[in-house]
Amino acid sequence: MSPEELATLHAVSFQTPRPWSVKDFAGLLSMRENFIITGDGPSFIMGRYAANEAEVLTLAVHPEARGLGLGRVMLRAYEKEAESRLALMSILEVAENNSVAISLYLSEGYSESGRRPRYYTTPENTKIDALVLSKPLKHT
Ligand SMILES: CC(C)(COP(=O)(O)OP(=O)(O)OC[C@H]1O[C@@H](n2cnc3c(N)ncnc32)[C@H](O)[C@@H]1OP(=O)(O)O)[C@@H](O)C(=O)NCCC(=O)NCCS
Repeated sequence: MSPEELATLHAVSFQTPRPWSVKDFAGLLSMRENFIITGDGPSFIMGRYAANEAEVLTLAVHPEARGLGLGRVMLRAYEKEAESRLALMSILEVAENNSVAISLYLSEGYSESGRRPRYYTTPENTKIDALVLSKPLKHT
């Protein structure tokens, strides 16, 4: 997907955090530590690998394609890529009110390892916490 396509899908997927622009995506894609995996359906996950740790930067499935397992497929593909880069740990931040994403992450073996108070601002200008979730990765 091009930065334009990524920004379009991100815009229909997110309110909190705010959607990322074409320029944001172009910048992120130019950094060698970042990687992106796109799905067969309208979905993508962007990750970062540095110092034995991988991070989910963002994950998006088009609203019309949700609930079909694409999010889980994307998360597993990201972890496979992270493991191939020898990451020992995967971490991510998720808004505390994002129950769908939290449920996905918990069911894939993530657990809460921290909380960032008032980390996100909603469109209504309310501050909400981010949960920091982490999961040890397999390494052979
Ligand atoms: C979070 C997101 C990526 C999930 O993608 P998805 O393709 O709909 O998820 P899946 O179909 O793979 O479902 C995975 C799990 O998520 C949870 N889930 C999915 N839809 C749900 C719903 N409507 N209500 C509650 N839980 C739900 C379930 O735990 C589900 O597992 P199950 O099917 O075994 O019950 C998608 O909703 C999305 O893009 N949301 C907006 C962006 C976002 O919040 N990204 C994550 C930011 S950290």
